[in-house]
Amino acid sequence: MATVTIRSNGQVHHAGQVIDDKSAVSAYLKGQGMIYESWGVERLNGHLKDSYTLKPEEQQSLLDLYGTEISDLKSSQGYLTQDVVVLSSATPNLDTILEKFRREHHHTDDEVRFVVDGSGIFTIRKDRLVFDVTVTPGDLIVVPAYTRHWFDLTPERKIKCIRIFKDPAGWVAIYEEPAVSSAPAA
Ligand SMILES: [Fe+2]
Repeated sequence: MATVTIRSNGQVHHAGQVIDDKSAVSAYLKGQGMIYESWGVERLNGHLKDSYTLKPEEQQSLLDLYGTEISDLKSSQGYLTQDVVVLSSATPNLDTILEKFRREHHHTDDEVRFVVDGSGIFTIRKDRLVFDVTVTPGDLIVVPAYTRHWFDLTPERKIKCIRIFKDPAGWVAIYEEPAVSSAPAA
């Protein structure tokens, strides 16, 4: 289950606050314009959950298992496609990839991730508010377009996710801060 850790909100006495109750996490992230849902992983068999080298037909089986949730999110948010992505110690150039993910950036599309296995930390920055969202298996998170953020793996150094897109081209990382006039308030 996801947890939220406040790094800084401009008020020192709140730094380090941890939110680890599911409904409180969902409410906090909703208040930040994000989406958090718990889709669960009970339906997965061991191989689909554990393997980081799924064949294309196995990736499709994984997507099919979450077909209802994916279609509901696509129709409510206007997403069009989905795929499966993994990062692990077997990923070529993992450290080079992580260096890019660890730099603050935003995208012109939402960043939508459902965690099938492993874990990761999305750090969100909104002006002086900075908080970590640590995601674990069963968590669905949406980082809205134009929200400044960065990502890192946890010490287990692996994550397997379903990604959902409006347009894969919209997921190009933009490192420069957007001009204020072009950034939606969400
Ligand atoms: Fe990103």
